[in-house]
Amino acid sequence: MTMFKLSLISLATLVPLAACHSAFFHPSMYGFNVTDKTFPFDNRPVAPLRDRSFADWWFHGHLDFPPHPTDFFELPAGKPATAEIACTKSATSYFASSEGGDVRNATNPNDVCPGGRGPIAYHTQGFDDLMGCALAIAYKSDVKDVEPEDFTIFSVNQTCVWTRFTDFQVPARMPPCPPGGCTCAFFWIHSPNGGGDENYMNGFKCNVTGSTAQAAPLATPKVARRCGVDPINQKFQSVPGNCTYGAKQPFYWVNKERNNMFEAASTPPVYNDLYNFLDGAQDDIFQDSYADLPDPSPVAAVPVLAEIPVKPEASTSGPVVASQSKCKRKLGAASSGLAVRSLSSGHDHDRNSRSWVPTSARRSRKLHQGSRESLWRMF
Ligand SMILES: *[C@@H]1O[C@H](CO)[C@@H](O)[C@H](O)[C@H]1NC(C)=O
Ligand SMILES: *[C@@H]1O[C@H](CO)[C@@H](O)[C@H](O)[C@H]1NC(C)=O
Ligand SMILES: *[C@@H]1O[C@H](CO)[C@@H](O)[C@H](O)[C@H]1NC(C)=O
Ligand SMILES: *[C@@H]1O[C@H](CO)[C@@H](O)[C@H](O)[C@H]1NC(C)=O
Ligand SMILES: *[C@@H]1O[C@H](CO)[C@@H](O)[C@H](O)[C@H]1NC(C)=O
Repeated sequence: MTMFKLSLISLATLVPLAACHSAFFHPSMYGFNVTDKTFPFDNRPVAPLRDRSFADWWFHGHLDFPPHPTDFFELPAGKPATAEIACTKSATSYFASSEGGDVRNATNPNDVCPGGRGPIAYHTQGFDDLMGCALAIAYKSDVKDVEPEDFTIFSVNQTCVWTRFTDFQVPARMPPCPPGGCTCAFFWIHSPNGGGDENYMNGFKCNVTGSTAQAAPLATPKVARRCGVDPINQKFQSVPGNCTYGAKQPFYWVNKERNNMFEAASTPPVYNDLYNFLDGAQDDIFQDSYADLPDPSPVAAVPVLAEIPVKPEASTSGPVVASQSKCKRKLGAASSGLAVRSLSSGHDHDRNSRSWVPTSARRSRKLHQGSRESLWRMF
């Protein structure tokens, strides 16, 4: 324990010098060309957000630096979208418009932050200390109409920030965007072992492609609750009834205005199972995803997923329940996440039991035992 404390203290003194943070970089983003000189303070897209007014943290204060009207980040329904995350634009494919030129690592194209400082430059002690990041969407074309409560997290990568090229699985049932496209944002909160408490947000214009007849409107997103295993805080079992299921808002934390999370610095809200943000596509964010969705509480029953009827492609009429075999095949392929996460076959567990561990937990990445730095070993 003494060693653990010492390492935290030495880390705290190192971080201010070493930190260079991270951002999502793409021409569709707000603030694509913002440098450390654009604002009176360093407001590059990689700068962390904390203690800021709403206007300064929302879209990173970059609403006046929009992308070109034709630049969208494409979200192919049912497939991965690959983002570039780096500690400087110079380390991305878009280095040409960066004041620092090309600093990409020739021997390691996935290097998030070239320069040999290692992962602490992007706020992690190592792979076991990753807390995940997420993409959110609002089905609104005009960014000025988007409120924090409009964003729904549709994809999580729990092993983020770790590689420059980071895949985000897009739910298969995502509906098409309005004619002017959708509005999206990247969100990240790192481990407390990797530096101070801070939020990251980069907004961008996005568009869903390849929507199918199975598409459905998104549900109204709710605030995520802390419900997973958290041994460092003496929570050795998950509390499934306490989780928020379905569409969830991003975390808005440690700024001066419009926060929706009030967690302490030592227990930040994070995009992983601790807040029921499962790894990959968030397949249960649709209005029809649940047959029964009780209000969460430590003693609440776990929700029941709905059975989604399969509609034939190109059908413009109402829902048609496909033949049994086609239905099974289609559901298996289109909603594998839901199938794994299905809570409806609940006869084998007591819904109020605290010892029940969701099937989904086993799907998530395994964290190596014995890593002293890792605050949350969830499984
Ligand atoms: C960013 O800068 C590059 C190079 O100067 C320019 O070609 C591009 O149009 C700019 N993009 C935006 C969105 O302003
Ligand atoms: C490039 O990546 C390799 C492998 O991760 C690393 O050893 C090296 O230090 C990196 N080079 C620079 C210039 O950051
Ligand atoms: C997270 O991104 C990494 C790097 O691109 C990728 O290998 C991994 O499959 C992604 N995880 C998910 C759940 O998509
Ligand atoms: C978004 O993608 C759809 C499907 O490919 C396409 O029809 C639409 O024109 C795109 N919207 C924009 C604004 O590019
Ligand atoms: C339930 O969630 C709330 C909100 O995140 C949290 O404060 C509380 O500690 C959780 N309770 C249990 C027993 O998990």
